[in-house]
Amino acid sequence: MSRITSLLTRFDPETGKVEGVQGVSRRLADLRGAFADPVAFEEALHKDNPIVYTVSSVTPGDGKGDLHYGVGVLFPGTVGQEYYLTKGHLHSWREAAEIYVGLHGEGRMLLEDEATKESTVVELLPNSTVYVPGHTMHRTINVGPVPLLYIGIYPADAGHDYREIAKRNFRTVIVEKEGKPVVMDREEYMRSLPQMKTGR
Ligand code: PA5
Ligand code: MN
Repeated sequence: MSRITSLLTRFDPETGKVEGVQGVSRRLADLRGAFADPVAFEEALHKDNPIVYTVSSVTPGDGKGDLHYGVGVLFPGTVGQEYYLTKGHLHSWREAAEIYVGLHGEGRMLLEDEATKESTVVELLPNSTVYVPGHTMHRTINVGPVPLLYIGIYPADAGHDYREIAKRNFRTVIVEKEGKPVVMDREEYMRSLPQMKTGR
């Protein structure tokens, strides 16, 4: 056990900041290509470049069987009708699964099987856990009015692979319609955008 750097982690339940950890912030500009509506994205970015989410990763050890985890905070907001989201990734070690624990706010996990491309949406809520199987693209989405706080726990050698998502993105989006989250096919949502109708 001596090779483990720390057994106890304290984090701020408001900000998600972890004591002694320099978190990573993802701003709107870092999410180019992630949202389905490029016109709404450029308009939003023209106004402001807010922090969309932060992740503070804890890496107590890198040995065989060790675990890493990240405390994530995803702020509320939309680009066009699409709710704020994380980039999403596969694990570099494809077999690696992950457990997400919801702590605060109202979120969804968008899961997409890498091989079959089948999409599944699972609620990410306080007092619940979501199991993300291996070989599954996963993205977190905040569908509520307050910051979404969660922890993701994964094998130390899982690794984050963003290439596949950057290439083809997820097939499904979650959009706000009359104040409620609605799951839609990405292509269908894109066809419904005003610029697709007016040729803008
Ligand atoms: O490891 C995880 O799955 C999480 O901690 C994510 O890294 C976090 O939700 C941020 O998402 P992404 O890594 O896709 O930017
Ligand atoms: Mn992951």
